[in-house]
Amino acid sequence: MTLKLCLAAFGAAFLPLAATAEDGTISVERGLQISIIGGCHDCHTPRYSETEGKIDPVNALIGNPVGFQGPWGTTYAANLRLTIKGESEDDFVEFAKTFKAKPPMPYFNVHAMDESDLRSLYLYIGSLGEPGNPAPEALPPGVAPPTPYVVMAPPTMPKG
Ligand code: HEC
Repeated sequence: MTLKLCLAAFGAAFLPLAATAEDGTISVERGLQISIIGGCHDCHTPRYSETEGKIDPVNALIGNPVGFQGPWGTTYAANLRLTIKGESEDDFVEFAKTFKAKPPMPYFNVHAMDESDLRSLYLYIGSLGEPGNPAPEALPPGVAPPTPYVVMAPPTMPKG
């Protein structure tokens, strides 16, 4: 009987903790988790795939010097530390809900995040170190990149 009561009391005490992921809690830790499950490091953190998902804090979301080539030209995953530099949290939420970018950036996935996801992401990006240098400039179609690049799609896509 006493044990049952005890469990009931603990259950109630831990319920709010268990619910944190969906209840709008805003934190650096949640931002980190969102950046992982949202796939942001896949492109924006150099050597993320090669290290099987080890996030080196020195490089996290610092942008990628390996280009993505297709009919859109060659693009480089941006340095997200520079994206938020000088931007308030509110500005970032507004930007993240509306911006567009060239392939293969899945900007529509960022639009689908809720406000507490985005605020957490902002805190996480802000917790990373020095902003560092921008990723290389995007190049128009037909221009040979001076950097390594991945061909994601042929320069002209088959119709249909
Ligand atoms: C498949 C690769 C890929 C993934 C996954 C990806 N990005 Fe990107 N991202 C890019 C590329 C490439 C660009 C640059 C596109 C361009 O030049 O228009 C970019 C640009 C951006 C920009 C615009 C930066 C600026 O300063 O204008 C933001 C913001 C961004 N990404 C956030 C994210 C977030 C947040 C995630 C995770 C939810 C994510 N990206 C996942 C490849 C990716």
